[in-house]
Amino acid sequence: MCGIIGYSGHRPAVPLLVEGLHRLEYRGYDSSGVAFEQAGKLQVVKAAGKLSALESKLASNAFHLATAGIGHTRWATHGLPVERNAHPHLSQDGKLAIIHNGIIENFQEIKDELLAKGHTFLSDTDTEVLAHLIGEEREHSPNLREAFARALRRAHGAYAVVLLSPEEPGIIYAARMAAPLLMGVGVGECFVASDIPAFLPYTREVVFLEDGELARIEGSKWEVFSLADLSPVEKTVNHVPWDMQAAAKDGYKHFMLKEIMEQPRVVTDCLSGRLVGQGDSLRVQLGELDAFPVPSRLHIVACGTSYNAGLWGRELLENIGGIPTDLDIASEFRYRDPILRPDEAVMVISQSGETADTLAALRLAKEKGCKVIGLCNVVGSSIAREADVVVYTQAGPEISVASTKAMCSQMTLIALMAAYYGQRRTDAFDPSASVKMLNALAALPAQLAAVLPTMQERAAQLALRFASSRSFFYLGRGQCHALALEGALKLKELSYIHAEGYASGEMKHGPIALIDPQFPTLALALDDALFPKVKSNIQEVLARQGRVIALVQEKDGVAPELGVEEQWVLPEAHPVAASFLALPALQLFSYCVADYLGKDVDQPRNLAKSVTVE
Ligand code: F6R
Repeated sequence: MCGIIGYSGHRPAVPLLVEGLHRLEYRGYDSSGVAFEQAGKLQVVKAAGKLSALESKLASNAFHLATAGIGHTRWATHGLPVERNAHPHLSQDGKLAIIHNGIIENFQEIKDELLAKGHTFLSDTDTEVLAHLIGEEREHSPNLREAFARALRRAHGAYAVVLLSPEEPGIIYAARMAAPLLMGVGVGECFVASDIPAFLPYTREVVFLEDGELARIEGSKWEVFSLADLSPVEKTVNHVPWDMQAAAKDGYKHFMLKEIMEQPRVVTDCLSGRLVGQGDSLRVQLGELDAFPVPSRLHIVACGTSYNAGLWGRELLENIGGIPTDLDIASEFRYRDPILRPDEAVMVISQSGETADTLAALRLAKEKGCKVIGLCNVVGSSIAREADVVVYTQAGPEISVASTKAMCSQMTLIALMAAYYGQRRTDAFDPSASVKMLNALAALPAQLAAVLPTMQERAAQLALRFASSRSFFYLGRGQCHALALEGALKLKELSYIHAEGYASGEMKHGPIALIDPQFPTLALALDDALFPKVKSNIQEVLARQGRVIALVQEKDGVAPELGVEEQWVLPEAHPVAASFLALPALQLFSYCVADYLGKDVDQPRNLAKSVTVE
């Protein structure tokens, strides 16, 4: 959950590390630190709080000679977010420093052992215990690499670790187990980092490290070994086509706003090369899935927003794709010993491709002999590499911690998959519903682009009116239930206003007791088959003096009149396309409330972009 970067090359290392940490800040931002070598000695500078605090400290440090170093931005797992817990951490003798992303599960056992040998610890972290263990192993190992490997073989859990020691000047060591870590290979220099944007301005040549691998990096020279026996491992260098432009804010106030506004482009990219034909003969091609049998049942497993995308898509996979589909939250699925049959498939959905619970669910499914489809955004991520087949969502880098465009891309791809499986069905499949949906999706980018600017204005008006609420309900039925969950998730994570997403029909079974004039409701009342039911549910809320914002759609140029405090009118659209119009409305409302309240929109408190610990 932290961001890590290491550098060995010919340039001054510290500014490069800090620059890389800025691009990794979305992974964690409660404290940060760097270590570098100066005149044969390790220098460590760290600070609690945002990266700017570290930069202020570094401003008074002379570090221009160091051409190798390591840097870390932290999201606390063990110990408070204070300076002593910030990385890097040193061994007992202070001769080596490490940075770490992940959790060493048996750290207490190792710590007790080291305490008994007289070690003293300055922090509450599992990482410092690992640093001490490496130092301890160094005393009994022929070299640093061996000591690093021996210590890691004792560590259980997840880690991406980078090590620096003046014992081997200009050299860094890195290793990974169940946490992201990759190398960027430049000219006369080499980087190691949790994510590609950290080094993207310097190189696009990337080596993906696998679990159980250890790398030794010395400028342009790098070698990879198996952690188990230190035998050499052959690696290939991959070219990554991203540019930094794709990861910049494009003039928007926040990455989140930029990413919401990018959604028409995202849908275009998702559809490109995947739709063939026109009009009544429009079809989907998803070559990735061609060699894969049509599963008799699909189990969707994901977390957070990705789970909501799966919930939204279930109906389409069943009704259009003809595939019985069920859904699990990854952290539940992995511990409930699910029954999986070989002719079924598990589809894991993950923007980052690194979510620990989703990755564990993938591994469990494979262990049980089930094929796994990864619906993923980040190329080369752990889930993308371990899934039997990957369908990339192609949303581009998502920097804002709150996921927006990724959900749009996941929904697009699930709709395409539903149509694709429908096409492969051998029973009497009527393609007309599928063709209508595909035509609606093809028209969606232009429709979305046309509504987004006015949608932002309307969201800002409503935000002003409702930002003082302490709690919110989001109601919807059918696919709008998934959108209601997503709307509530966005509001709570960005603005810290309590929000609950509910299936409207469930309100009467308890939650309606909460309704009063201080507890407003955002009701998704789109023009679909369930509209009359939702209309009744809105009346039930109104009858209890509840304030209601209703998200409705025009039909034949006229919006329904529901007698609510605020109607937010979306244009007429196919029911599937309507979800794609409602999604940015919900995102923009949460964005505007959070921005109005002065919250840290791109980096909400307590959250991290990529949840690589369970
Ligand atoms: C919410 C959000 C999270 C993620 C969740 C899964 O805005 O971003 O709920 O959706 O942590 O992440 P991925 O999709 O990377 O597995």
